Formats: sequence, structure tokens, C-alpha cells
Amino acid sequence: MTNNMFFIANWKMFGDFKSVNSIKMVIKLSKDKKYKKAKIVYCPPYTLIDKFLKITNKSKIKIGAQNCHHSQNSGPFTGSVNVDLIKSIGAKYVIIGHSENRVSGDTNHIINLKIKSALKKKLKIIFCIGETLKEKKNNKTNLVLKSQIIRGLKNVKKNNNIIFAYEPVWSIGTGVVPKNNDLKIQIYTIKKMISKLWRLKNPKIIYGGSVNPKNINELRKISSINGFLIGGASQKAKNFIDIIKKTIN
Ligand code: PGA
Repeated sequence: MTNNMFFIANWKMFGDFKSVNSIKMVIKLSKDKKYKKAKIVYCPPYTLIDKFLKITNKSKIKIGAQNCHHSQNSGPFTGSVNVDLIKSIGAKYVIIGHSENRVSGDTNHIINLKIKSALKKKLKIIFCIGETLKEKKNNKTNLVLKSQIIRGLKNVKKNNNIIFAYEPVWSIGTGVVPKNNDLKIQIYTIKKMISKLWRLKNPKIIYGGSVNPKNINELRKISSINGFLIGGASQKAKNFIDIIKKTIN
């Protein structure tokens, strides 16, 4: 393992105030020199961001939000949080374009606005793309991914603050992961799409969808992957640590 690897924990709509203490084991691991290539980011619900920031403040672990409103300015948007508010609390990352938000109304255009506003605030972005099972069955995968990339990044210049997360929708929360060879080809194709758009030699791309302590032994063999976006398995510190240790060792 020569490069840094991202381990991004997406807690989704889980976690109460007490559950934050469970990450102490992960904080300990993050200070171990053996795992210095592990770039750990926690994306808890908004309600826990401050508590996560406090508990991790003497470590290298970074904190992010799971989404943001597209408006750069404050405004009458009940229940919403924009990048200004995320930045002001001290978070450094934001997930944009997650399929669970695409189904509830995030179009490629909205995602594009969110990306632009996050870049303006110098937040690091985890930009999620991925095809549904129906799209995969209809051989539309590359068409869908290309359109998500091109529309999501419309008028966005080449940028190192964006990490691409390939998350096939049929893999999220289902326990099903793509076969290694298929995933390898897909990652290669996505990197080519991004490189063509931005003339980037090696864009950062992570994989997400049912990553767990069992399948990580296979997934880690794909050397073109720069890390993992982990939902369910990140909520138990023991599983998250297991994934990090197996990847880095
Ligand atoms: P999962 O979620 O690991 O529970 O499949 C991944 C994600 O949605 O980011």
C-alpha cells in the first residue's frame, strides 16, 4: 500500500449523543503510525457534528456533513443547512449527490449548484455517482455516470478538492458488491471520463456500497481505488477499524 486511503464513514440518519463516544477506539487507531495512510473522515448527522469535532479535535480525523442546501446565502429554507453553516461549525467535508438524496429531489443541476457553493467555501467534496439496478440491466451504466459527472461538474474547473465516490445504487445497503473485475473496469472507465473532462491524470475515486469487514479483503485488491465510503459498517467502531486494518495491512 503506497498511497493514502480514504475511509469515509457515512452515519446517515443514525446515532444519538451517546453513540459518539464509541469512536474513541477509532481515534486511538488514527494516532497509530502504522495507519498513517488512513485518511479518516466521519460524516454524522448535522446534530452530532459539533460533538464529533470536539471528540476528534486532537486527532487527524476530519468531520463532514452528509449533504448541504444549494443556496450559498442564508435564507428562508426551513430544515436546511448550507455550506456557510457547515463551514462555520468547523466541518471540512461534505457529501454531495448521494443516491438517497438524488431520489428525494437532487437533480444533476441542483448537485452542480451544491458543488459550486461547497467549492466557494473551500470544503472538500465527496461527489457520489452511481447507476440504479434498472439502469444497469438496460446497459445504461456508463451513459448515466457520464451524465452525472458532466452535469454535476458543469462550469466547474479542474479541482483537487473533489473526491469521486462510485456507489452503485443496487449495492448500497444490500450486501451485494460488484465483482472485483467488473468494479476494476468501472473504476477505470470513470477515471477516463473524469480525465477527459479535466485532463487530470489520476483523479481520486473511492468505492461505496455494502463495504464490510468480510468483503474488504477482496475490494482492497483493486489498487486503482483510493478508499471507501462506508455506511452501515461504519456505525460500529469495531467493524470500521477492521476495514481500515485489513486495507492498510
Ligand atoms: P452502505 O452505505 O455501506 O450501508 O451500503 C454506503 C453509502 O450509502 O454511502
